[in-house]
Amino acid sequence: MLLGITGGIASYKSAWLARLLTQAGAEVDVVMTVAASQFVGPITFEALTGRPAHLGLFDPGHALEHIRLAREAHAFVVAPATADFLARASTGQADDLLSAALLATTAPVLLVPAMNDRMWANGQVQRNVAHLRELGHTVLEPDEGNLAVGEGHGPGRMPEPEALLSHVGRLLEEHRDLAGRHVLVTAGPTQEPLDPVRYISNHSSGKMGVAIAAAAWRRGAHVTLIAGPLAVPVPVGARVLHVATTEEMLAAVTRELPASHVLVMAAAPADFRATSVADQKMKKGAAAPVVALEHTPDILKSTKPARAPGTVVVGFALETERVLENAAGKLAAKELDMIVVNDATEAGAGFGHDTNRVALVRRSGDPEQLPLMPKTEVADAILDRVALILQEKAP
Ligand code: CTP
Repeated sequence: MLLGITGGIASYKSAWLARLLTQAGAEVDVVMTVAASQFVGPITFEALTGRPAHLGLFDPGHALEHIRLAREAHAFVVAPATADFLARASTGQADDLLSAALLATTAPVLLVPAMNDRMWANGQVQRNVAHLRELGHTVLEPDEGNLAVGEGHGPGRMPEPEALLSHVGRLLEEHRDLAGRHVLVTAGPTQEPLDPVRYISNHSSGKMGVAIAAAAWRRGAHVTLIAGPLAVPVPVGARVLHVATTEEMLAAVTRELPASHVLVMAAAPADFRATSVADQKMKKGAAAPVVALEHTPDILKSTKPARAPGTVVVGFALETERVLENAAGKLAAKELDMIVVNDATEAGAGFGHDTNRVALVRRSGDPEQLPLMPKTEVADAILDRVALILQEKAP
């Protein structure tokens, strides 16, 4: 990877990005502008990447360095990219090592602007950004938030290094088989209130749904994640709609489904709710209260009329007995294209774990039993099949 650093205060975060990329297995060649070296020293990057940091176009012994660095890079990331760098890049200038290497690269390019909010809003900066996008480069929008001390709050902050790592993953992704597709994913549990302070829920963490949303975005999809209360951070790149109850999840799914090519129901909606919710906190009193329950709506079943022809619908099933038989029953009853089933009695699989061991059951063919693997890999295995089913269902 080539990691370019230009002279903005956000360059202090680039040290962390260099470390994350190196930890993820990348060989990171850092190229700094002279202005960047006023903020963070090259030694910092050398220590973090284990490789020399490059500065000058004319350093003795480094003739043609810009060509070598550009040729060797599989991804070219500039973070932060100052207004000055964006201007030089958009006009094809090559007056330092970084801008010369940018002209010479054939690798995918990710530019991460960071600057004062008024500079970011400037018409010339916006024109430069638009032009760089026309040239095929990915240019991120800066985050909203606190800017340098005394400069208040606004769009201009460099996104956090962890988020940038996800963007680099998307840049390098070879399976762009969901490009342009709208993928709707649900994740997490729902909560059904009993009174203003208590609720019924379940142990779902949301990890599986979040992993699917992240993988779909990496593979090029526009992702909407409908999330109950999650135990994990929301994924980068997804539009996230937060809901609490099963009824709210149903309303959100019904609204979003007509514009979606794929629905993956990885959520564990609560199946029961109180027939009436107490207005005031239930007091301990003398006798324990008895709560009458009723069914919540089955979201997958309710969506049958809202599915456009060709929509791929994937459900999940958590079973404790007659696993494949029960899953096949749900596949038919909910009219799914595929059901992802796991056995709740297995170690390392299901709620809360980072790993899962699932079988994929489709309408035809034998079930595919996958080995125990990280949920991130299960997500890609599911999406491999989704991409195929999308093709099969195409008119
Ligand atoms: N599901 C749903 N609406 C609900 C409950 C579940 O759409 N109210 C979805 C889940 O997101 C999952 C699939 O249905 O994709 C299967 O969920 P599961 O709880 O295993 O099945 P149920 O149909 O609720 O059957 P049971 O709990 O009786 O096994």
